[in-house]
Amino acid sequence: MAVSREPIQKEPVRLAIEGQDLELPVLEGSEGEVAIDISELRKKSGVITLDEGFVNTGSTTSAITFLDGEKGVLRYRGYPIEELAKHCDFIEICYLLIYGDLPNAEQASCFRSSIREHTLIHEEMRSFYNGFPRDAHPMAILSSVVGALSTFYQDSLDPSDPRQVEVSTHRLLAKLPTIAAYSYKKSNGQPFMYPLNKLDYCENFLQMMFATPTEPYEVDPDFADALRLLLIVHADHEQNCSTSTVRMVGSSNANLFASISAGISALWGPLHGGANEACVSMLEEIVADGGNVQKYVDMAKDKNSTFRLMGFGHRVYKNFDPRAKIIKATCDRLLAKLQLDDPLFEVAQKLEEAALKDEYFVKRKLYPNVDFYSGVIYRALGIPVQMFTVLFAIGRLPGWIAHWHEMHQSPGKRIYRPRQVYTGQTEREFVPLDQR
Ligand code: SDX
Repeated sequence: MAVSREPIQKEPVRLAIEGQDLELPVLEGSEGEVAIDISELRKKSGVITLDEGFVNTGSTTSAITFLDGEKGVLRYRGYPIEELAKHCDFIEICYLLIYGDLPNAEQASCFRSSIREHTLIHEEMRSFYNGFPRDAHPMAILSSVVGALSTFYQDSLDPSDPRQVEVSTHRLLAKLPTIAAYSYKKSNGQPFMYPLNKLDYCENFLQMMFATPTEPYEVDPDFADALRLLLIVHADHEQNCSTSTVRMVGSSNANLFASISAGISALWGPLHGGANEACVSMLEEIVADGGNVQKYVDMAKDKNSTFRLMGFGHRVYKNFDPRAKIIKATCDRLLAKLQLDDPLFEVAQKLEEAALKDEYFVKRKLYPNVDFYSGVIYRALGIPVQMFTVLFAIGRLPGWIAHWHEMHQSPGKRIYRPRQVYTGQTEREFVPLDQR
């Protein structure tokens, strides 16, 4: 059962504003995060706060994932990501994030078999794929088809009914890999491959992606294990852009399919999950340009250039992203095992070395993030670049679902509706058309 401790009440802070002397509560979380609770601020003072991009603003309390950006720490429900990546499969991580604890053998077996029962999508949903142009981006297909699940599975839409929430949770976990693999088959004109329920989650996805009806297909266990690791390190990351989107949309009591579809769209952006696709395109450009990494480091520093090093920097991590370290090590192992010399991996390592020696990056504490090396592994697995963010979405799905559940279970649950500071025109006389 998910453990969530009440924050500790600390000494309140005083705020002198608009001639008033206010006292605001101060809370401390289980890892020592301290926050000023401003939920009564406007009622008491008529004043709001402003924080573009929510750099300093907590939207909620949460018991799912803990990050320490300064120390480069990431834990799911208290377990360090390094341990989970070493010892778990992805289904165990889904269970951990959504239900709060690692499953015992019986719980894992029930969860696994329930998901296996839902891997097919309604046959009539396959016709959606005919409606997309052949070069449709798979993220557009993913968000569309996931949103459309609410038209075929109308019996599990009510967020207030725990049974319906459970069914839609299992349906999403089971069907997303199928929907994703079909979007790839759509792009290369090959027949869609049905899920094979005798395979585990990662094996099943790989066979739906790369098998054809004409040949037997054996999943390479090294590929399946690399995919397992990638999905695990992407599974949750507290209040990131796409997770906050899922919470925002879900807070209006929109159904889970609609909320996840919105999260997929948010993840697509190149500043967020789309960075893995953008990073590989950047590395390919550098390789094609003779591998001159310093040129691109200098471009990234040039304020007159919009160029940024994709896969570098992070809102929270001001140290190495622990996921980047895990992925980089897996890159090394997998490429060595496959005896692959990927020029992109070499350039990526040179780029990292050049940037981490440069004052601009050191001063701003810009390090490789989860997207910097993941593309190298996806390429080694034969995943096409446009599918990289789709893989990120498959990994992040349990995190999105866990946060959606937590938001609905919160005693203080309210629709997300931020305030603003208006800076437009003050009131003015209407001007009829013939006088404009
Ligand atoms: C993910 O939130 C999450 O947890 C996200 C994520 C998850 O698991 O959900 O971790 C996944 O989205 C990882 C991030 C992937 N995006 C990228 O790799 C795109 C490149 N990175 C940046 O655009 C940027 O670092 C962000 C978007 C990740 C963070 O942006 P912030 O926190 O708003 O930081 P900022 O843009 O204000 O940058 C601060 C300074 C600026 O310079 P100054 O104005 O101080 O002179 O750092 C510079 C920026 O110009 N900077 C970069 C840079 N990232 C920041 N300069 C060059 N290259 C970069 N990559």
